[in-house]
Amino acid sequence: MAGIAIIGAQWGDEGKGKISHLLAEGADLVVRFNGGPNAGHTVVDSYGEIRLHHLPAGALREGVLGVLAHGMVIDPWLLREELQEVERQGRPTPRLLISERAHVILPHHKEMEVGSGIAKSIGTTRRGIGPSYADKALRLGLRFADLADQDIVRERLSQLEGIHRNPARPPVDLERVAQELFEFYAVFKDYIGDSLGTVSVALEKGEKVFFEGAQGTLLDIDLGTYPYVTSSHTTVHGIASGAGIPAVKLDRIIGVLKAYTTRVGEGPFPTEDVGRLGELLREKGGEYGATTGRPRRCGWLDLVALRYAHKVNGFTELAVTKLDVLSGIPEIFVCVAYRVGNEKVEEFPASLAELSQAKPIYERLPGWKEEIRGARIPEELPRAARDYLRYIEQAVGVPVRLASVGPRPEETVFLF
Ligand code: GDP
Ligand code: IMO
Ligand code: MG
Repeated sequence: MAGIAIIGAQWGDEGKGKISHLLAEGADLVVRFNGGPNAGHTVVDSYGEIRLHHLPAGALREGVLGVLAHGMVIDPWLLREELQEVERQGRPTPRLLISERAHVILPHHKEMEVGSGIAKSIGTTRRGIGPSYADKALRLGLRFADLADQDIVRERLSQLEGIHRNPARPPVDLERVAQELFEFYAVFKDYIGDSLGTVSVALEKGEKVFFEGAQGTLLDIDLGTYPYVTSSHTTVHGIASGAGIPAVKLDRIIGVLKAYTTRVGEGPFPTEDVGRLGELLREKGGEYGATTGRPRRCGWLDLVALRYAHKVNGFTELAVTKLDVLSGIPEIFVCVAYRVGNEKVEEFPASLAELSQAKPIYERLPGWKEEIRGARIPEELPRAARDYLRYIEQAVGVPVRLASVGPRPEETVFLF
């Protein structure tokens, strides 16, 4: 057993947190390789409910080392709060390794995101993700390795303030930011290190290493619905670049999808239902953002998008979450193709204009009445629910390994 990827197959919030936490029992490492605190990964267990923003959900399992790899952008202030929340819930202190190459999200990144209008036009999480990746690409970023040298920190902060200075806001108190970073470093320096080396050694030794993706395939900076995307590589490809391992080291690539679709923020969403069904899914599924609390947009399952996600990621298996939310809906619709003007389109379009005009072509499947949160084995699912899973499996061309029927780890039905 070696590398196992957990990848969002839709627009994020597929339940990756639940799946990572469920599967990571007995694992050695769980690695976050992309994004930052824009992620909100929920775990519900005997300690209560927790929404993780930086920490891999799987790292809540005892004995697992949580790795924040270099593909991430990390907000030290929020990371501290997150660890305090873990402690407040009485959970064991997670084992943690922060890559010395990961970039630091600074206060001005959040201000830039809001001040530039990007926060509003894209509907971002306002966590400074885009601006911190932009500074990284501009080769102006501050990395965790830099925190060891106070002169470098001061110099870099003043360089950034010089470049990003916005007369509309009061100047940043650079010395205060520097002092807070030094305090963070004093507490966390033993956790900052060579994540690349640690992950490669673990893989060499045949240890069980999970890679917990953040966001989803359709939010990928290159392969998602640009510009309505996040600023990192959310697909399986992000693992090679963001954790620094050869892609061939992955044994399993798990695509996590909801039994329906949601999206938070702006951008095209062909199967969105702004009527009663959308509302029903939002209320029954508790579809409010784990990071921002925003209502999520909801709609039916989109097979065009899922087949594209499989093409991109090469899933070896699927995990279908929130199947319980569909209980009581008499008929389930699945989008099998789009109509764009007079054309039938079966491939997920790259063009935003085309995708924005795409009207779903639906097939209808029978629903089921029974509540299924108590189901633990396939035979305890109603036939129509099993048929729905089979249908997804055949339509995407990837076996469904598990169906999630509630937020808790035990609320899971393994199909093989
Ligand atoms: P992530 O970002 O992919 O980790 O997903 P989120 O945590 O943002 O959103 C998923 C939400 O659905 C969380 O509130 C989970 O507790 C919840 N959840 C996960 N799986 C299930 C499930 O099978 N059924 C129900 N009802 N809720 C679930
Ligand atoms: P998890 O890991 C859902 C969305 C935002 C916005 C766009 C860009 O919990 O699945 P950003 O702040 O990243 O610049 O915002 O991406 N977004 C997410 N949507 N789940 C997430 O993470 C998301 N992270 C970012 O709503 O539309
Ligand atoms: Mg989430």
